[in-house]
Amino acid sequence: MAEDFEVKLEKKAYIPAPHYLANSALGNYKEAYNKFTSDPDGFWDEKARELKWMRPWEKVREWNHPYARWFTSAKLNITENCLDRHVNNGRRNKLAIIWRGEDGREEVLTYRQLYRSVMRFANALKSLGVQKGDRICFYMPFVPEHVVAILACARIGAIHSIVYAGFGAEALHSRIRDANAKIVITADVGKRRGKTIPLKSIVDDAVRNAPSVEKVIVLCREKCPLELYSELEVDFYGIQEGMSDECPAEEMDAEDPLFILYTSGTTGSAKGIVHACGGYMVGTHYTCKYIFDIKENDVYWCSADPGWITGHSYIVYGPLSVGATVVITETTPDYPDYGVWWSIIEEFGVSIFYTAPTAIRMFMRVGEEWPNKYDLSSLRIIGSVGEPLNPEAFEWYYRVIGKNRCPILDTWWQTETGMHMITTPLGMPMKPGFAGVPIPGVFADVVDKDGNPVPAGQGGLLVIKGPWPSMMRTVYNNDERYRKYWTQIKDYYTVGDLAVKDDDGYIMILGRSDDIIIVAGHNLGTAEVESALVEHEAVAEAAVIGVPDDIKGQAVKAFVTLVQGYEPSQKLVSELTYHVRMSIGPIAMPNAIEFMDKLPKTRSGKIMRRLLKAKEMGIDPGDISTLEE
Ligand code: WTA
Repeated sequence: MAEDFEVKLEKKAYIPAPHYLANSALGNYKEAYNKFTSDPDGFWDEKARELKWMRPWEKVREWNHPYARWFTSAKLNITENCLDRHVNNGRRNKLAIIWRGEDGREEVLTYRQLYRSVMRFANALKSLGVQKGDRICFYMPFVPEHVVAILACARIGAIHSIVYAGFGAEALHSRIRDANAKIVITADVGKRRGKTIPLKSIVDDAVRNAPSVEKVIVLCREKCPLELYSELEVDFYGIQEGMSDECPAEEMDAEDPLFILYTSGTTGSAKGIVHACGGYMVGTHYTCKYIFDIKENDVYWCSADPGWITGHSYIVYGPLSVGATVVITETTPDYPDYGVWWSIIEEFGVSIFYTAPTAIRMFMRVGEEWPNKYDLSSLRIIGSVGEPLNPEAFEWYYRVIGKNRCPILDTWWQTETGMHMITTPLGMPMKPGFAGVPIPGVFADVVDKDGNPVPAGQGGLLVIKGPWPSMMRTVYNNDERYRKYWTQIKDYYTVGDLAVKDDDGYIMILGRSDDIIIVAGHNLGTAEVESALVEHEAVAEAAVIGVPDDIKGQAVKAFVTLVQGYEPSQKLVSELTYHVRMSIGPIAMPNAIEFMDKLPKTRSGKIMRRLLKAKEMGIDPGDISTLEE
């Protein structure tokens, strides 16, 4: 196991302008955190009271390791907080959704329009026989109707299981089967980099041998009205004809499931992570209000897709629950050119922007002339999620996008956690490479394999010590897999990431614990070596794996892509090797460096080291359904 190794920590910090703290909803971090630890239930009780409930809770939480129940016996419907509350309280004509399509087409929906669209679609679902607890699988492009359909499920208590529309038929099929979905919602096509992706025909393949599926709802974007090919198919708008734009909110118990979201395990089949209505609502609302600090006039844009947890928590439920104006888009960052995202920020006056390190590193590679063509002065806060934000990328993001002005919220969390867990709250000094501290509401620590906290500067395993409202409740059809999370290290929730703390309690995420490489008895986080490589001016992205070595047990092999204008050469190999030696130490020096045009990644942008490793070792790569294109 990977614990107990030294990490060289940088001391550099950036201090945000004082107004960020002065105006922040959270206020002083230490005070807020102490308030939480002195009375955790009281803390969450207060946060939950900011929302609309149909019936209040008896107890804030019941913890029966590893099972938690939050807001016991309370009743609610999350859509009342995302819609009704705003429509009835002065936000009815506020923009809820601003959409930009790939072809430049735009669409906007006010809160009232969104409300009415959701109600009509909810009634249409009911007319198809959908009831509370039924599973509905999504395979949708990122159009406004996607958001409408999500909220419509929640309105009537149906459980959505959203599958990213870049997955193949096999992955979709297995998710439909696992959840026994009654309905599949799709569109005729998706659009990506100027190409038309035939989503509907992928669904046709996926629903074969899926007897639970009673209807396939198809949104027609190209040739309307839709030609229906089988009795399974119905038209997205056709079924809404004559439907009322009022639909009473289904009364949900706080512990009723809100959705299932499949996340690929490092090994084995995908896990259906189950989230519950009440706690998830509180967690996502709390973090949008107090961590993202979303204010009435903010224009908020998260570049994820609803197919990922980031889309669930930080495009749909969280931002809408605080009544934000949310930008959504079907565009990719590089089409029709590298300026498209920056043009969106300029045009809509985006003030909070949330993206992933992989996108930031791509932009670094193509050069700052792209963002520099656009006015980014509306930005107030910029965020990152999904992977460690290496110091190089942090500094570029901070300087080129944030103009040395906007705080970066590097948020660490997971599909399983539902909400942000670790970040550097507004106003605190930001340390490149460090995600930050556990947010108020979360007990996080870095421990050895027996659960003892490791001293600052020593690597260890990240754990969460105790339940939080938006924690997953189970793995669908596989509770055994759920229990595993809570039984590997003491009674803690094992995250599966390696981390290190500094003297101030800031946490640096080093990468997955299964990505650890043990070289001559020393543990190295792949992210650490990668970060060192990326520091070099020639390197755009790097992936590191361990390969067997007769003497050292494992040796480091690196795969790198180069910044435009650099060419692979033996000289560059020596330079990079030397660079890693100087920044981490001889133990981390790659034995081999291979230059690549592109690194294999999952569709959510994570580098698939497992694949590089399989190729290197000449073994079967296993499940590659999550591989991008
Ligand atoms: C990684 C995405 C470093 C981590 C929300 C975690 C991060 C996994 C960060 C969860 C971050 C996510 N810094 N690593 N800010 N955010 N990760 O389930 O390894 O797609 O365990 O959730 O991504 O990925 P998931």
